[in-house]
Amino acid sequence: MDKLLSNRIALVTGASRGIGYAAAIELARRGAHIVATARTSGGLEELDDAIKAAGGSATLVPLDMKDTPGIARLADALRDRYGRLDILVGNAAQLNVSTPLSHIEPKEWDDLIAVNVTANWHLLRFFEPLLLASDAGRVVLVTSGAASNPRAYGALYALSKAALDAMGRSYADEMAATPVRVNLYTPGRTHTQMQFKAFPGVDPAILHQPADVAVTLADMCMPGFNETGKLYDHNQRKLLSFQRPV
Ligand SMILES: NC(=O)c1ccc[n+]([C@@H]2O[C@H](COP(=O)([O-])OP(=O)(O)OC[C@H]3O[C@@H](n4cnc5c(N)ncnc54)[C@H](OP(=O)(O)O)[C@@H]3O)[C@@H](O)[C@H]2O)c1
Repeated sequence: MDKLLSNRIALVTGASRGIGYAAAIELARRGAHIVATARTSGGLEELDDAIKAAGGSATLVPLDMKDTPGIARLADALRDRYGRLDILVGNAAQLNVSTPLSHIEPKEWDDLIAVNVTANWHLLRFFEPLLLASDAGRVVLVTSGAASNPRAYGALYALSKAALDAMGRSYADEMAATPVRVNLYTPGRTHTQMQFKAFPGVDPAILHQPADVAVTLADMCMPGFNETGKLYDHNQRKLLSFQRPV
């Protein structure tokens, strides 16, 4: 494949395993330099080995998404080193154990909202000047079908993704007059640790593979991808528009 992302800088959160790991490899395969974050250094080092083996390069940043000053320091470091950010994949997220709404512990609520929602807001806040400094800044926020299909005992995760959707759609409108494009990506049920945590008995054969998901996700990070405020649904293999009331 042509290295269409040569000299592009891509930040991928939650890159130590699962969809973020696969997305980082796919973007590196297309030539991007990857800035990979997660808490687990071992997973990041494995990613680094895989990217190097494919001829790419990565900077590893062990970081808890609840560490807001850490996100700000990362933005400062990337500004000093590169002066811009071309691609931001907001992928890191947590899933809580299925619980009746009234039984969710306040700390569990706060932690999950901090990672799934607030950290993505901080990423947009701190990286906005860097995204605007790119000739084709691309933001992809990884959401879930749960956002529009909340079920009993799954409220917390579902509402966190609904909030992420609202944030992404608002931000897409705010950025519309700039070269920055902002979209949402819903992978569908994918063969990752999170999926097996949610459904321990799931038949692996029905799940998407992270590497397949990563290809369509990376397509939305390309400079030539000009859609904004859309949702790519990997189940339907389709880019969807949100309906706005007239
Ligand atoms: N798998 C599915 O079926 C599915 C379906 C719909 C949507 N999604 C969405 O797809 C995205 C990726 O999920 P996945 O299935 O790949 O999950 P996963 O295998 O559990 O991976 C989650 C990633 O997020 C990182 N992460 C979690 N909490 C973090 C924290 N506090 N600070 C920093 N990093 C953190 C993890 O790294 P560390 O633990 O090393 O920090 C890991 O790299 C998520 O947004 C998820 O909601 C997944």
